[in-house]
Amino acid sequence: MTFGAAMRAEWMLDPTVAYLNHGTVGAPPRRVLAAQQAIRDEIERGPSQFLLREVFRFAGAQTNTPTRMRRAAADVAAFVGARGDDLVFVDNASTGANAVLRSMRFGAGDEILTTDHAYGAVARAAAFVAAERGAVVRLVRVPYPDYSPKALIDAVADAIGPGTRLAVFDHITSESALIFPVAGLVALCHSRGVPVLVDGAHAPGALALDVPSLGADWYTANLHKWTHAPRSCGFLWVHPDRQRDVHPPVISWGSGNGFLAEFDWVGTRDPSPWLAAPAGIAFLNELGFEAQRRHNHDLAWSAATMLAARWGTKLGMTEGDVGTMVTLRVPASLGTTGEDAMRLRDALLFEDKIELQVHAGHGQIWVRISAQVYNTMDEYERLGEVVRTRAK
Ligand SMILES: Cc1ncc(COP(=O)(O)O)c(C=O)c1O
Repeated sequence: MTFGAAMRAEWMLDPTVAYLNHGTVGAPPRRVLAAQQAIRDEIERGPSQFLLREVFRFAGAQTNTPTRMRRAAADVAAFVGARGDDLVFVDNASTGANAVLRSMRFGAGDEILTTDHAYGAVARAAAFVAAERGAVVRLVRVPYPDYSPKALIDAVADAIGPGTRLAVFDHITSESALIFPVAGLVALCHSRGVPVLVDGAHAPGALALDVPSLGADWYTANLHKWTHAPRSCGFLWVHPDRQRDVHPPVISWGSGNGFLAEFDWVGTRDPSPWLAAPAGIAFLNELGFEAQRRHNHDLAWSAATMLAARWGTKLGMTEGDVGTMVTLRVPASLGTTGEDAMRLRDALLFEDKIELQVHAGHGQIWVRISAQVYNTMDEYERLGEVVRTRAK
């Protein structure tokens, strides 16, 4: 398939807006939405049959054939190199991270170790759990803007202490869009007796991913960003040794019946996003996973180098440190504060018809560009021009 403008026909996106924000709010393709709608139609022909027999079965059911949830989970697991029985669906990565954090038995003085680039919602969940139990969150400073994976590992090694009970690392950070050396961080933490939760919200579909080989204890991710699944579709993978002790944030009928039963039914919900996840993976495979990954990475990196040159700013990372998104500074005259960032973000959308992530940090304003198969270099060229004009 030809990537670029022709691909836009596969999406419902407003054709008058350059959507450079796939990493923030992923856009599901039309055909995946159609597959989801077909599932919803099927549900509505027999809602109780579908939800109480096809999606979940209460103890005592007369059949052992896998449920639709389990079949979809097996497809997703295969896509990330895992076993279906080690993976459950969650609404999103926030829910997956909450499940793990809220299942831990922290005590007074225990430490949850994470970084100052952890996603805000997950950092808040960690702080909430810590505050409830008298524990503390220790934030490791990521070497930034001049990033180095080795320096990050060294900083984490220095920060692990006798009270560290859990480490939480992003696989790809949110605002800074950096790939963390997750396997190395896990090996380090395990060598010091610390279990690791990986927040892979951006990873599936953006990176070639083999979850078990990373060695983590828990791995949560979104499929509604880079895997073309409909919203809300995330998963939580749990190492078999940890499954007994992890529970969903909502306790329901599955309680006491094991890991899969606990997560597969947490009350009446719309299961169509999870059941349509295999359609997202099928679309990805049709595009060619490696071709898509390479296209998106190459486009994001070439656009970032072009923009940095045009704006006279500097990239703080190397090409291998990023996937399908790159974060870079805008010219200094555009401001320094969160308000400046929001003003620029909204002006870009409402006046220039360009949607992307804009934030403030380190006394500067940054944009994070995303690249998806429907994006073209022209869109980033236009971004370069309008930002340069605004900076004058
Ligand atoms: C690193 C990271 N973790 C977690 C999340 C949360 O994802 P969701 O809002 O789908 O739960 C995001 C969202 O962008 C993220 O970037």
